[in-house]
Parts: sequence; structure tokens; C-alpha cells
Amino acid sequence: MRILLLVSAFNSLTQLVFCRLRDGGYEVAVEYAHDRDVMRDAVHRMGPDLILCPYLMQKIPSWIYEKIPTIIYHPGPPGDRGPSSLDWAILQERRSWGLTLLQANDEMDAGDIWAWSEFVMRRARKGEIYRKDIAAAALALTDEFMQKFTDGTFTPLAQESLSGVDWHIHRMVRQSDRAIDWERDTTQSIIRKIDSADNQPGILDEIAGLECYLYGACEESELRGKPKEIIAKRDGAICLGTVDSAIWISHLAQPGRFKLPATQVLKSRIKGVKEKRIPLFTQPGLKSFKEITFYKRGGIGYLGFDFYNGAMSSQQCIRLKYAIETVANDVDILVLLGGENFFCNGIHLNILEESKKQGEDGWSNINAMNSLVESVLMNDEILTVASFGANAGAGGVFLGLACDFAVASERVVLNPHYKTMGLSGSEYHSYTLPLRVTEERAREILEEALPMSAKHAKEISMIDEVLPVEDYMRHLYTYCEALLADEERYYELLDEKRERLKRDAQKIAECRERELSRMHPQFWDPDSDFHRLRHEFVYKICRTKAPERLWSYANSALRCDSIV
Ligand code: COA
Repeated sequence: MRILLLVSAFNSLTQLVFCRLRDGGYEVAVEYAHDRDVMRDAVHRMGPDLILCPYLMQKIPSWIYEKIPTIIYHPGPPGDRGPSSLDWAILQERRSWGLTLLQANDEMDAGDIWAWSEFVMRRARKGEIYRKDIAAAALALTDEFMQKFTDGTFTPLAQESLSGVDWHIHRMVRQSDRAIDWERDTTQSIIRKIDSADNQPGILDEIAGLECYLYGACEESELRGKPKEIIAKRDGAICLGTVDSAIWISHLAQPGRFKLPATQVLKSRIKGVKEKRIPLFTQPGLKSFKEITFYKRGGIGYLGFDFYNGAMSSQQCIRLKYAIETVANDVDILVLLGGENFFCNGIHLNILEESKKQGEDGWSNINAMNSLVESVLMNDEILTVASFGANAGAGGVFLGLACDFAVASERVVLNPHYKTMGLSGSEYHSYTLPLRVTEERAREILEEALPMSAKHAKEISMIDEVLPVEDYMRHLYTYCEALLADEERYYELLDEKRERLKRDAQKIAECRERELSRMHPQFWDPDSDFHRLRHEFVYKICRTKAPERLWSYANSALRCDSIV
């Protein structure tokens, strides 16, 4: 069966559905829905039996959905219609929310329903609910839909036929719907407003006299100040007083620009504001701005590093490296947990874009990243486990693959490549990837530059285990505890690792040197593809046509001229 994904972006949800279909043996291609001619050409080129739209902001021409079954993934339960669904769900404090797969027709989200599921809403940022709860639902519903569609006996349900449904057709959320009233809104209400617009579009406000969008809010339990007074800063974030306590805001973006750590945007406007330090790592429960957390269960240590959007600047890499080196002395197994939204996405592209010395700062960032990876890869005192509980990309995947074991949640998508950013990559990937998947396959993965499901990553031995979405942490604890339970096996594994590291010491050093010498011009040449592609990425410059690599799982020789 030929399936075309018509989408507004090849975002995480589209990638998840793409991987699921590819894993299921379907022929699948992706095209953007920005331009009617591009959509027509894509349909003409592929002749799809089915069109899926996991992430769609535009309207699809009627001739397409009238001829080919076209299914929209709507991030809301049955009865919910219109844009900004998740935003409204957070603002209105819905207790449960859902995902519905609808057949496209001429009315927005009014088509017949093929499948839906609901989940309990958590207090979290919109992006996190999208990447976790909606993603988990999408995985199950894609399977359910494909089963019903191929079976051919299921008739989708007309929306009017549903009973007990809470009907609401909403409009796009406006800035005025969630503007913060600093003199009245409580901390919880401010956080909810910012969460409802995080990652995008952010809440527009004015901080220290500068108009900017606000992102990355969290509660502060001890510091106090007048509403909106900036009372402290920490690792790029700022702390502001509220009517009942205080909040931290980690990132700001001026209109027309991009997100940066708040202190970097405000610069001299916050002169005199004190840095309120905390230890290198804290307990996860601390109600304050924190990026690195640590706790132990028996001899196993769990290290979280929740850097906004999974991006790591030089300083963040160095802090994490010190944290790893410190806690490694105190555990038998160290588990790298990454963050809530992303495990890690490698070097910090926004900070590099902003830099006046892009070559130098990029070079410093990749070297800091390498030192961090080295502290994991070369540690021969303990065993290490990477827990991909959230998506990872580029250097972030290879940070995880430097561990002795790697496990991933079933809903995770990994992007183990650098090519789309014009980089050849470092982070010892040329040692760790072939070690797991063979040289030949490593070359293919890097060249193909496509997302990979956790399931596929396990099949090719890139990771060691796929853990269920439900109760992920419990499964992770069981996995890690089993590694430690058999003492003999634990020391055997450690000995094997020591021998390998000794045997491969020169090879590992050569890999690092070779990777860096290839990357040198990519950072230092101002005309390199990296500088251009990073600029496009950071400024979200959209292309009208999907890159050819997103057609590599479709047989382009198949055309269906009769369709158009
Ligand atoms: N540096 C800075 N910001 C990054 C980032 C990085 N390395 N990786 C992702 N982000 C940001 C995105 O710009 C986006 O920002 P927003 O909050 O303003 O919307 C946010 O993280 C989410 O990313 P998005 O691309 O929407 O998520 P996704 O799940 O659809 O895709 C990736 C994930 C990893 C495929 C994609 O973000 C990517 O290609 N990142 C770059 C990875 C990279 O090349 N790193 C450098 C080499 S080590």
C-alpha cells in the first residue's frame, strides 16, 4: 500500500507516524502542504492509496480528499474542533484530552471518525504533552486505523451519531486570551498560560522594558519579590516575583527573532540582578529552576539533564560532564535520563546563530560536547545506561550511544545523523555507531539521514531494549536493577569493557581526530553549508517542497495518472 503523508512540517509526530508505517512495510513518502501545485505533483508522482496528515495547519484541496481517503490527526477528543486545541485544553484546565483520526471533508475537523483515544491531562508544557501523550496515542491509533482500513469492513462514524460528546468548536487562541496580568494572576495561573504556548507561539509580554515572548516557566518555592520584579538569575534563566510567590522563565525571544536564554536577551537591562546559585545537581523535586538532577536507588544513579529543547551550550556540556564525573564515583550503574521533552539534541544552534564569533563558539561547543561524551565513553569504573525516554537528534543520540547500554521508550524517534544540518558530526559517533551496527550500516544511517523508531533501532542493535510507554520508569528501574542483580555478570561486563577500551584506545583517539578534522571547515568557513542550514533552522525558514530523502521509501516509478 502506498501512503503519502501530507503535512505542514516533518515534525516529531509526522516522524513517528512515518517510522511506524515504514516499520510496518508500507511504501511511504512525505510532502509539504504549503503549496497546491506541490501537493498535486506529489499525488501525481506517488498515486497513493491513502493520505495521512499527522500535522496539518493548511487546508487540503477538495479534489484530493474526494478521490483518495485522507485522514487528519486532530489533537483533541471527539467533539473538539478547530485550531489551538491543546492550547485551549491547557488554558481551560481540562482533566482529560485526546487524539482523533478523522476523514477529511469540506468542514474543519467535522469528518467521520476512524479512531480516537483519550488520556489524563498532566501539568506540563504544550510541547511535552504533544511529544509524549499525543505521540503515544498516535502510535496506537495509527495501528488501529491501518488495521481497520486494510480490513475494509469498518465504516467510520459520523460525528452526529456520537452521543455523550462534549461539543466545542473553538477559534485560534489570541495573545489577549492568555496575556499575563501580573497584579492578579497567581503563579500557577501564569505558569499555565506560558505552558499553553510553549514551544510555540510563546506569551508576548514586556520584561525590563523589552517586548518579548516568554518560554520555559517553572515555580520558585523560596525567593519572593513584587509582581514582575526580577529578583534573581541562574544559568540563563530569570526569576520574577508574582502576587503569591515567584516564577522562573528560562527563555525569551524578541518578535521576529528566536529563543535564547533570558539573560542573554535582557543583557544590561538586568545589571545588578544577583546570580542565585544551586549545587551542580539537585533532587528532581526541588521547586526552582534546575537543569541537572540526580537521585539514587540502591547502587544505581539516575541523572536528569533537562536543557530547554535538548540543546546544549558549551557551559551546559561542561556542567553536565562535571556532574557525571562527580556522581560516577558514588554508583555502580549510572543512568542518563536526559530531559522531559528531549533526551538531547546536541550543540546549541540558537546560541551559535546569535554569536558574533560563530566559528570559534561552534568549535568550542563541539569540543565541549566531545569532552562530555568522552566522560561517559571512557569511564571504566562503572556501567552506564542511556534512557531515551524522549526523542533525541544528532549529537544527542551519540551521547546516549556512548553508554554501555541504551534503552528507549516505544514512542521515541531518534535522528542519528548530522547531514541535514550540513555537518559530518563528532561525539565519537564513528566509533560507537559501527560498534553497535557494523560499519556498512552506520554509513547508511548517516547518509540516509532519516528518523528511526525505537523498534527499528533495536532490530539493528543500535539500542538494546525497547520499553513500553506505559509505566516507562518502572520498566527502566527493572532493566537497570537486573544488570546489577547478578554480581558475577556485572563484573564480567565491566572487565569486557575495560579490555575493549584498552584495546581500542588508539582507534578511539583517531576517530575523534578524524571527526574533528572533517568538521573544522564546517565551523570556520563562513560560507559552509552548516552556517546556512543552521540559520534556516533557527529562523524556521520553511521550504515548499519536501527533500528527496523523504521519498526514499516510496517507489517513485509508480504513478497513477488517472488520479489527476
Ligand atoms: N539547538 C537549538 N535548538 C534546537 C536544537 C538544537 N540543537 N534542536 C532542536 N531545537 C529546537 C527547535 O528549534 C525547536 O524550537 P522551538 O521551540 O522554537 O520550536 C524545538 O527545539 C523543537 O524542535 P523541533 O525541530 O520542532 O522538534 P522535532 O521533534 O520536530 O525535531 C529534531 C527534532 C532533533 C529532528 C530537530 O529539532 C533537529 O534537527 N534538531 C537539530 C539537531 C542538530 O543538528 N544538532 C546539532 C548537531 S549536534
